Amino acid sequence: MRVDELRTDRLRLRRWQPDDEPAMATINRHPDVGRYLNRPVDEASVNAFYGVIVDHWETHGFGPWAVEHEGEFVGFAGPAHVPPFLAEAGPAPELGWRLHPDVWGLGLATEAATAARDDAFERLELPEIISIIHPQNTRSQRVATKLGLTRHRQIHNPALGISTDIWLGRA
Ligand SMILES: CC(C)(COP(=O)(O)OP(=O)(O)OC[C@H]1O[C@@H](n2cnc3c(N)ncnc32)[C@H](O)[C@@H]1OP(=O)(O)O)[C@@H](O)C(=O)NCCC(=O)NCCS
Repeated sequence: MRVDELRTDRLRLRRWQPDDEPAMATINRHPDVGRYLNRPVDEASVNAFYGVIVDHWETHGFGPWAVEHEGEFVGFAGPAHVPPFLAEAGPAPELGWRLHPDVWGLGLATEAATAARDDAFERLELPEIISIIHPQNTRSQRVATKLGLTRHRQIHNPALGISTDIWLGRA
């Protein structure tokens, strides 16, 4: 069944639209946002980001949701296949989340990711999801814990040259 949006108390999770591209680029360029991502942020990856997400939706029929709070685009939350350089983390799709720092600490990441998780388990019928979380990303670890994910194993992240954590959640 095709679904174009999910609603929570404070959020609308929806498909992407063209004016999300510059707003997401601003988020991706923010130094606090890039600190613990799976690979260093550069202009090429910022510019490619929107196209990669839209392609994922078109190819797989699901992907990270655009998240709106009080009518404003604030970031994304939702499932995506793991990128090829981290294939070892798969094959389960990754549930990811990334919001503008202006709205951190309000519980919005947890609220968005909870709705995306429920949709992934119930409608998409994914038996498992993972999250790839930098060992120092305590904010993200708290979100994962509140979602019921547990730290499962470690893999080598060749883009950062470190071991990184794979968190696992089962339907
Ligand atoms: C990871 C990230 C999304 C987390 O954002 P966040 O604002 O810290 O997370 P939440 O919105 O869920 O907020 C959680 C905190 O808000 C508090 N909070 C405030 N109001 C709340 C409410 N109404 N409901 C729930 N929690 C609320 C919670 O107590 C919680 O604090 P705690 O973790 O100490 O319990 C954000 O830091 C981010 O975008 N980082 C950059 C990208 C990134 O690293 N992504 C993850 C890669 S693995």
